[in-house]
Amino acid sequence: MSLYGVVGYPIKHSMSPQMFEAAFYEYNMDDEYRLFQIAPEELENFIKKDVNDIPIKGLSVTIPHKEKIIPFLDSIDKHAAAIGAVNTVHNVNGKLKGYNTDWIGATRAMEFVGKDCEGKFVVILGAGGAAAAVAYGCVQSGARVAILNRTLERAQALADKLGCQADTLSNIFKYPAHVLIQTTSVGMYPNINASLVDPDYFKKGMIVMDIVYNPIETKLVREAKRAECRIVPGYKMLLYQGEKQFEIWFGKKPRTEKMEEALLTSLNN
Ligand SMILES: NC(=O)c1ccc[n+]([C@@H]2O[C@H](COP(=O)([O-])OP(=O)(O)OC[C@H]3O[C@@H](n4cnc5c(N)ncnc54)[C@H](OP(=O)(O)O)[C@@H]3O)[C@@H](O)[C@H]2O)c1
Repeated sequence: MSLYGVVGYPIKHSMSPQMFEAAFYEYNMDDEYRLFQIAPEELENFIKKDVNDIPIKGLSVTIPHKEKIIPFLDSIDKHAAAIGAVNTVHNVNGKLKGYNTDWIGATRAMEFVGKDCEGKFVVILGAGGAAAAVAYGCVQSGARVAILNRTLERAQALADKLGCQADTLSNIFKYPAHVLIQTTSVGMYPNINASLVDPDYFKKGMIVMDIVYNPIETKLVREAKRAECRIVPGYKMLLYQGEKQFEIWFGKKPRTEKMEEALLTSLNN
């Protein structure tokens, strides 16, 4: 039996355990996936000491540790370096390597409504850690990207790094998108009646993904549906970033449909 888990703070609402337990069950694996609630000031000791003492073979990394964890690892892959965030750690013989699978999760989620974002104009709302991964994935797919954020400086810094445009949220009507991806926490439970987008912005056929998955249908998604936009469910990004984590840790694909069933059951409860 080997131990895996998710490290974050707070962590008790994470749906990753249900998702990975379903994947382990399908392969008859006796590995365990646990929650590790680690405060920011405890992170260095946890990563540099506890992970090998316990030992933990693989970690999912979530808010607020995705950037702060980097100096405590032995190496990170080129995608995590370009994004500036790690959401996956693999412990190979005591050496900890960091990866980012959020960008792969976002890219695969977009395939729900077509192939990918190649040649499309993508507008991303937000410029935090999730936006960095989503924007990186879109740029890798060959999209043109505009990053709109409440704080312009943060949008500009990310846009400069990835070769995108930057602006404030209030200028959204200047950017008619083929694809709109909402990456801020606005609309997340319990503030479920909040949305950053004026419904007049949505046009029939526009592809819209809100990466907030609690609730499954945010106010933004409801309004986009009313305008006959094509919706990519935000939970798909969580699902596919987890699928890629499984591949990194075990060198094989999970039964992703079983992970999805478990995730949807948790989300609906
Ligand atoms: N579906 C998935 O797999 C997945 C994966 C990762 C994250 N997420 C979700 O994505 C969200 C963001 O995560 P993160 O890691 O990027 O967080 P983060 O690094 O803290 O960034 C937060 C972003 O939200 C913006 N924001 C926050 N409150 C706002 C408000 N009231 N009005 C306008 N903008 C606001 C911030 O703008 P400023 O820069 O102006 O502060 C910033 O751009 C969270 O809800 C997280 O659960 C989902």
